[in-house]
Amino acid sequence: MISRARITRRTAFRLAGLVAGIITLINVLIFAILYFVISQQLSSHLKAHINEVRKTLIDVQGEESDGFQELSAMVARHALVAQSDEDIYLLTDEAGKYISGNVHSLERFSGFRAIPWKDLKLVGRWASPRASDAVIGTWTPVKGGFLFVGDGNGDIKDAQRLLLTGLLWGICLSIVCALIGGYLLGVKAQRRVAEMERVLDAVASGELHLRVPRNSLSDDIDHVAALINAMLDRLERLIDNLKQVSVDVAHDLRTPISRMRQKLETVRSGPDNLTLYKDIVDDSLDEIDNIADTFDALLRISEIETGARKMKFVEVELNSLLANLGDALEAVAEERQHTLRLPNGCADRVMVLGDRRLLNQLFINLIENAIVHCPNGTDIDVELGGDLQGPIIRVKDTGPGIPPEEREKVFRRLYRLEKSRTTRGSGLGLSLVAAIAALHDATITLADNHPGLVAEVRFCGASTSD
Ligand SMILES: Nc1ncnc2c1ncn2[C@@H]1O[C@H](COP(=O)(O)OP(=O)(O)OP(=O)(O)O)[C@@H](O)[C@H]1O
Ligand SMILES: [Mg+2]
Repeated sequence: MISRARITRRTAFRLAGLVAGIITLINVLIFAILYFVISQQLSSHLKAHINEVRKTLIDVQGEESDGFQELSAMVARHALVAQSDEDIYLLTDEAGKYISGNVHSLERFSGFRAIPWKDLKLVGRWASPRASDAVIGTWTPVKGGFLFVGDGNGDIKDAQRLLLTGLLWGICLSIVCALIGGYLLGVKAQRRVAEMERVLDAVASGELHLRVPRNSLSDDIDHVAALINAMLDRLERLIDNLKQVSVDVAHDLRTPISRMRQKLETVRSGPDNLTLYKDIVDDSLDEIDNIADTFDALLRISEIETGARKMKFVEVELNSLLANLGDALEAVAEERQHTLRLPNGCADRVMVLGDRRLLNQLFINLIENAIVHCPNGTDIDVELGGDLQGPIIRVKDTGPGIPPEEREKVFRRLYRLEKSRTTRGSGLGLSLVAAIAALHDATITLADNHPGLVAEVRFCGASTSD
């Protein structure tokens, strides 16, 4: 089996190789373009020089009758000097016979042509070694014959040699740099990936608190690390929540079940009494109904949390929804001598996108809490307002309120304040409120009403119309 270190090194080398390959290719392309452009430029300079010399010589001949002799003498002088240089001259008569110059003979052609030195029959001995391997030249018809002027391509060859040396050095250097840089980068990236693997392995084996270390570079890997950490945070919260719910459910169900068992045991060991039997059975049925209700509510919250009901969202008018709550709640509030004031006659129609039944349930739960958890004769006010972000609904009471340190906890499933343990209820009302609010992208906060509690539901992105 290949070890992780070997794979890491192999990947780093592959990355280094890839970087080196790309840099080499770019270098070769740049040098090829330079090579072509510089060669072209030097070649046209050479031709311009040949044309100039040719023109000077033709001008020497002029219109005079002895012009050909003068040209011949001038070509001979040039040829003499050129023996240590790379200039080639040849003057022939019309039949192509040698008159003067530094080559004996040369076939005639039109335009410019490169003639290898080895094909030239040179006159005399040439002192200096030649840098070029060919002579570029052209024939010109003159009065009484033909004139050839050429020049060695040494300058072009020198420049090309220089460029090739530069290219080779450039490629060598860039390959070395790319290999070292690519390897270092690859090893660094791999080290961070290995770090992530280590953390994820540890999390998978139960160390949920571990997080992937971040760095200050804010690069792609760091972005992935941030996403993984956010996912781990959520996972940890969910698992904590799950643990808490399981413990709370077990705890909360144990009490009614023990109560039921105790009663059944008492009646079983006591004297035969049909009325007592019936009472105990009725009590037990009540307890069982409560347990079933708790499970129903738990299932309902879970279902809402899945978000599936979002598909059924419609435009809901909050004004009428809140005003109609009176039908269901006024009687209960009156029974406890509370004063319940609901918003009505509001000028603006406030609309939100949502599930009417669930929104109804949300506000019923909040108002019911004020009715149940406040002493008789409390003022309960429901206000409908809003700001630029969207509608805001506040349910205010003047009861005992909830201490600040408990305001987060009461949203947990089955959580009830100590003083409420004796009242009816399962501690799921606010959990349901939180789940419904989250489904509607709304926030729910509890605050002090001085005295009492104010529960504030804020919708965002909802519409208001007249
Ligand atoms: N308006 C309020 N004033 C004082 N305490 C409150 C108020 N609303 C809620 N609470 C406290 O928060 C706890 C949780 O409320 P929640 O609605 O979740 O459960 P519940 O009312 O006890 O039971 P359920 O709503 O499931 O019948 C309550 O038990 C109560 O102690
Ligand atoms: Mg409640």
